Amino acid sequence: VDSCGARHNTRGEKMLVRCYRAKLSVWAALCVLVLCWFYVFPVYRVPRDKDIMEEVLRQRGIWQKNQTGIDLYRKLLTDCCNPQRMFAVTKENSPVGKVLWYDGEFYHWHTVNNKTYSLFVQDNPLDVPLKKCAVVGNSGILRHSKCGRDIDQASFIMRCNLPPLSKEYVEDVGTRTHLVTANPSIIEKRFQNLLWSRKAFVDSMKVYGSSYVYMPAFTMKPGTDPSLRAYYTLADTSSNLTMLFANPEFLSTVGKFWKGRGVHAKRLSTGLYLVSLALGLCEEVTVYGFWPFSVGLDEHPVSHHYYDNILPCKWFHAMPEEFVQLWHLHKSGTLRMRVGRCPPQEGGTLD
Ligand SMILES: *[C@@H]1O[C@H](CO)[C@@H](O)[C@H](O)[C@H]1NC(C)=O
Ligand SMILES: *[C@@H]1O[C@H](CO)[C@@H](O)[C@H](O)[C@H]1NC(C)=O
Ligand SMILES: *[C@@H]1O[C@H](CO)[C@@H](O)[C@H](O)[C@H]1NC(C)=O
Repeated sequence: VDSCGARHNTRGEKMLVRCYRAKLSVWAALCVLVLCWFYVFPVYRVPRDKDIMEEVLRQRGIWQKNQTGIDLYRKLLTDCCNPQRMFAVTKENSPVGKVLWYDGEFYHWHTVNNKTYSLFVQDNPLDVPLKKCAVVGNSGILRHSKCGRDIDQASFIMRCNLPPLSKEYVEDVGTRTHLVTANPSIIEKRFQNLLWSRKAFVDSMKVYGSSYVYMPAFTMKPGTDPSLRAYYTLADTSSNLTMLFANPEFLSTVGKFWKGRGVHAKRLSTGLYLVSLALGLCEEVTVYGFWPFSVGLDEHPVSHHYYDNILPCKWFHAMPEEFVQLWHLHKSGTLRMRVGRCPPQEGGTLD
């Protein structure tokens, strides 16, 4: 279940069906099937990578903040998804007995009991509205971007999926973090599900300082136990990090919001969830490291992540579709997307 700003592989799929018995019902079924197919994989509606990139090149450097757009999206997201109250599972929105429906599974739920209730934070801990937010995706486009200083100047910085922040990357991705997401699958793969030593996990989390760790504990059934173990590990070592469990209801309403706007992924990327959260909570949003294409604007190859080149599952996310949405928001001035290098800084932050 991969993350932010990643590359895609789905294109130009065609269906060839032969029908021997031309009964009416068969044709009707076929029609429905084809319609479903186009609904699920609307390949024809997404512009080609090359066209998207040409447009990005044309528009680059021109950007103006649009307060109307910012206000509009804050209102749309507040109305659909209420991020301020709902983004995390809290004692306030999930009392004992509340049924949490897993948003990534069909018909699975967790009923909040005394034990899980005690792990939830009391209330939304974020000081809303947040001022300048940076959402940092993990695309290879960040490599050599020199965006680190730019990112670190934001007042609230969100990152995806426990990305490495070691010295070699600092210049490009910065050092500060206020919220970082962690997929349960990482706990399983990188830290043996925390069933053995927990030190490696605790040590690797120090780089995030005293930020919030945002885990989708109630998205997939197998993700709940690793998430709770991660919670206890942080609690037992008196870590400065605070665990927030993503609210499945929030994730599911955000998914519907983007589905209504033409994103047909089975599941949104972590990055788009964070951008939605930022649009709902922040006065200003800048987005870094979202680039789902295998070449950059300078036609050089771009790795999948800034730290490796492992591809995500096919079909799972609809990255170019998501990118097109974000680019619309950039063009209208609702958020700012950084693609390529950040400008060198001399006091100001203008292009
Ligand atoms: C500002 O945002 C609003 C709402 O999205 C949009 O209708 C308008 O065209 C935008 N203005 C500019 C100059 O892009
Ligand atoms: C949950 O805890 C409360 C107070 O700590 C207690 O009164 C209640 O009986 C507990 N419920 C269950 C089901 O254990
Ligand atoms: C937590 O933060 C304090 C103050 O910044 C620091 O002294 C301490 O070492 C930190 N603890 C851990 C476990 O990182």
